[in-house]
Amino acid sequence: MAAVDRFYLLYREISRSCNFYIEALAIVGAWYTVRKCVSLAFDTYSMLRLHLIPKLGGEIDLVKQYGKWAVVTGSTDGIGKAYAEELAKRRVNIILISRNKEKLEAVSRSISETYKVETDFIVADFSKGREPYAAIKKALKDREIGILVNNVGMFYPYPDYFTNVSEDVLWDMININIASANMMTHIVLPGMVEKKKGAIVNVSSASCCQPTPMLTIYGASKTYLDYFSRALHYEYASKGIFVQSLTPFMIVTKMAECRSSVSRRSFFFPSAEEYVSHAISTLGLSTRTTGYWKHAIKFTLGEHLPEWIWAWFAMYFCRTVRKEALTHKVK
Ligand SMILES: NC(=O)c1ccc[n+]([C@@H]2O[C@H](COP(=O)([O-])OP(=O)(O)OC[C@H]3O[C@@H](n4cnc5c(N)ncnc54)[C@H](OP(=O)(O)O)[C@@H]3O)[C@@H](O)[C@H]2O)c1
Repeated sequence: MAAVDRFYLLYREISRSCNFYIEALAIVGAWYTVRKCVSLAFDTYSMLRLHLIPKLGGEIDLVKQYGKWAVVTGSTDGIGKAYAEELAKRRVNIILISRNKEKLEAVSRSISETYKVETDFIVADFSKGREPYAAIKKALKDREIGILVNNVGMFYPYPDYFTNVSEDVLWDMININIASANMMTHIVLPGMVEKKKGAIVNVSSASCCQPTPMLTIYGASKTYLDYFSRALHYEYASKGIFVQSLTPFMIVTKMAECRSSVSRRSFFFPSAEEYVSHAISTLGLSTRTTGYWKHAIKFTLGEHLPEWIWAWFAMYFCRTVRKEALTHKVK
């Protein structure tokens, strides 16, 4: 070690001995920057490939690719109805499933008259445990189903703490959000495998991006669907089946009504029709997507947030919505 009596000499000595560390740090920094740039470029390319290129090019012939008939659960309102209409627009025949016969008749008639396709419907309540599936299985027996959209799902009246959620809501959420997708897939998938083609779309939610407190059961049920879809895709891709997990953020439908901030359309909150017109063009291209480019940006940011920040925002947002809902209830 050299002896120094001036600051600049001391500084020179220190920098000389630190040179190696500085260079090592520079290499680490450069490696990190290159990795981030490559990943950003790749993400941007994926987003363009998924959300822009299909819009510019011609539409995929869904009938040729997957088959003549599609089944859509929860199809008399919101996203399900928009899916049924968008599929019909692309000449796919539609089988609607929901609880209300009058609504089913009306939607079925309107779709067949508007898009000149065949339609049919099945009245079923997915909150009734195993009860509806025997009838659904019988009704779908000789139909060649090419596309299944597991859309039906329920949300809470408003976000709440786990112990405040009633047992009824708890069971319904498990039956409607989870069991229905399993049972419907179990009914329809063997026929698709036989024909060596088919597509299954499971409507999950962006709440599966990270643990979302105060939407605990809902988020967990959607995470189940997301996992189910991705694992199932690996199992059946080689047999010609495409399984897609859709993870949208908020969309302006009846379900989102408890969130007053969502009741009006805005930049990030599309209508069901706008959302589905984007989401459907990702079918066959991405096994896991929000289905909508604006939501894709939010999802990427959400995934990169530390979990505690995501959870903090979720708690803040859900508490506000809960307070609003309880105030309305009292009035
Ligand atoms: N809206 C959003 O912000 C949002 C965001 C992310 C994910 N999602 C998911 O997207 C899916 C659709 O949501 P949405 O907003 O379109 O809902 P929605 O507007 O409330 O429509 C729900 C549909 O499901 C049917 N349905 C409800 N309960 C049923 C049951 N027990 N058995 C059979 N059919 C039933 C309803 O018809 P009937 O009442 O006539 O039966 C209706 O056709 C859900 O899985 C939801 O979790 C929604």
